[in-house]
Amino acid sequence: MPVSGLTAWQALFDHGRLQAGQTVLIHGAAGGVGSIAVQLAKRVGATVIGTGRAHNRDVALDLGADAFVDLENDRLEDVGEVDVVLDVFGEEIGVRSAGLVRAGGTLVTIAAPPEFEPRYGRSVFFVVEADRAQLTRLAALVREGSLRVPIGSRHSLEEVPKAFAAGRQGGGKPIIVVAEP
Ligand SMILES: NC(=O)c1ccc[n+]([C@@H]2O[C@H](COP(=O)([O-])OP(=O)(O)OC[C@H]3O[C@@H](n4cnc5c(N)ncnc54)[C@H](OP(=O)(O)O)[C@@H]3O)[C@@H](O)[C@H]2O)c1
Repeated sequence: MPVSGLTAWQALFDHGRLQAGQTVLIHGAAGGVGSIAVQLAKRVGATVIGTGRAHNRDVALDLGADAFVDLENDRLEDVGEVDVVLDVFGEEIGVRSAGLVRAGGTLVTIAAPPEFEPRYGRSVFFVVEADRAQLTRLAALVREGSLRVPIGSRHSLEEVPKAFAAGRQGGGKPIIVVAEP
């Protein structure tokens, strides 16, 4: 939550100024940032288009995305115009996404400062900032069951080196169990 959750929140609302009725394209919709962003965007009444690889489709749709673009097999440009793009990739996908932003819209990128701008919109790069009030809101949503955090593998403290060596598996954050509650 302090990294992925706050990043998703700040990207959509502080920088993207996403509002009900708007359409947002969320890249990496099954990933750490994307999976939270999909749910937060749906909560405010936006239409959500998620992207990723084919095996991310079901996760993104299950989290609430209205549509999914498989970046390896579908044409990104078929999405049409959107109000906000949350770009987690940069590079070629970032450049192509700038072309999808409708007039007055925003490309929010968390990958790297963009070298491109939407024609009639703006682009924003930011680094997540600690924010107690936002984190408290996120924690409340998780506690009341309104925000799901996809969890991948679970490891004991002794297994940490092995967990790092294995990398991220199973489409969610690895959990290190320090002590059983
Ligand atoms: N600026 C900031 O403050 C800030 C904050 C947080 C994160 N970040 C950056 O944001 C990026 C995303 O972070 P994250 O935690 O969301 O990462 P993540 O959990 O790895 O999620 C990335 C998602 O995108 C998918 N993906 C990756 N490459 C793809 C490709 N070429 N085509 C289609 N789908 C692809 C992944 O699918 P697979 O499961 O198949 O790999 C995964 O679902 C990272 O670069 C991170 O460093 C920046």
